[in-house]
Amino acid sequence: MANKAIYPGTFDPLTNGHINIIKRAAELFDSVVVAVAKSAGKSPLFDSQERLDMTKNAFSTTANVEVVFFDGLLVDLAKKHGARVIVRGIRSIADFEYESQMAGMNRKMMPELDTVFLRTDPEWGDVSSTLVRDIARYGGNISNFVPAEIEKIILNKLS
Ligand code: COA
Repeated sequence: MANKAIYPGTFDPLTNGHINIIKRAAELFDSVVVAVAKSAGKSPLFDSQERLDMTKNAFSTTANVEVVFFDGLLVDLAKKHGARVIVRGIRSIADFEYESQMAGMNRKMMPELDTVFLRTDPEWGDVSSTLVRDIARYGGNISNFVPAEIEKIILNKLS
């Protein structure tokens, strides 16, 4: 059985922190499905297509990373792709508390599904999409937190 993992998120925008987790997951698993969630409740700055495109472009040359959009339950996406592993990045204890609740609920809905936590490398431990958007909105420098192409997309969106 192929060792396939799903890495879900809102990616509003994709940051270097997410990229760090995806690259490491791509080394650990045969294939990784990066799942861009609609996350309507978060009122994303970038629409679903924009988030999908920026994530696809960032991994266009990584053979075992596929980027998809989803609007539904993560467990249903896992079943659709035949994946039994969810990957999530953990930056802090606060992340762990939130993530462990989600992992538990997902497992209640799909008992064969496991969530694997990767500790976000310390370099990206304080990065969040909200903070990146805020810094950019008020003219701060975000070049250390997102790839150059995504920095351009963010600045263009906010101009
Ligand atoms: N580096 C940098 N930032 C990171 C990070 C990392 N390694 N890991 C997470 N983050 C940040 C994100 O930028 C994001 O910041 P923001 O809140 O400022 O936007 C935050 O941590 C969490 O975002 P993300 O990882 O994208 O997760 P999310 O909470 O937006 O997404 C879903 C959660 C989509 C996985 C979850 O809601 C889901 O599964 N939805 C589908 C519906 C479902 O099945 N619900 C039942 C679940 S039990």
